[in-house]
Amino acid sequence: MEKLVVGNLKMNILSPLEREQYFKLFKKELAGKKLSRTSIVLCPPAIHLEAFKKLKSKKVFLGVQNMFWERNGSYTGEISPDMVRNFGAEWVILGHSERRRYFGENDEEIGLKVMAALKTGLRPLLCVGEKEKQGNGSATIMSQLKNCLKEVGAARIENVVICYEPVWAISANNPDHLPTTDGVMSARILIKRFLVEKYSAKTADKVKIIYGGSVDSKNAKNICVDSGMDGALVGRESLAPYEFIKIAEIINQ
Ligand code: PGA
Repeated sequence: MEKLVVGNLKMNILSPLEREQYFKLFKKELAGKKLSRTSIVLCPPAIHLEAFKKLKSKKVFLGVQNMFWERNGSYTGEISPDMVRNFGAEWVILGHSERRRYFGENDEEIGLKVMAALKTGLRPLLCVGEKEKQGNGSATIMSQLKNCLKEVGAARIENVVICYEPVWAISANNPDHLPTTDGVMSARILIKRFLVEKYSAKTADKVKIIYGGSVDSKNAKNICVDSGMDGALVGRESLAPYEFIKIAEIINQ
């Protein structure tokens, strides 16, 4: 299965000048890299989306970090699935824990967004994951999957990528807050089992499952490759093209 490395640039890159610097570094790091079986998806703040088209290629695609489910209308401050698509993105991160935490998003709303994305031809990167290191993580993951994918039928599920992001490991900057290879593998098996039960083994095989939470070039092999994951969702390190492309090369191996 083709691997996927997603860069979630979050609320960074504060000016056109900073953006140009990022482009320069990104192009330099990507030049000459094969990445024969890995695609990169960059998710900048939506205000940068059009400019980021400059980086698009056979290997590099674009996404956004959130969107609304309605197509257009009086929804001040929101962007719609059609806008996202018409401005050059194919992907959308949905249900990120920071959206849940700071903007009160719930599973029902995320489910609406997932369906709106799929109907518009966008591919959702659906984030699920438990809040605490200790506790019943499996129950949280299962209920998030159940609720957010409620309306998604077998014909559409292969366009969804499930991102397992244990919330306690996001931006943790602390080796104690990194899951083990086995821990990530167990989450993968759980998600797979959900997909097999809801759809079928054949369909489940077509759905990518990736890991996110403090991925860097030192831990990428352990947590994203050895755990059997199909790629990574990278936050902080996606702001440093040198590190980000290094992660993509590790995933590609
Ligand atoms: P991080 O972010 O790599 O900085 O932990 C990952 C994410 O929030 O998707």
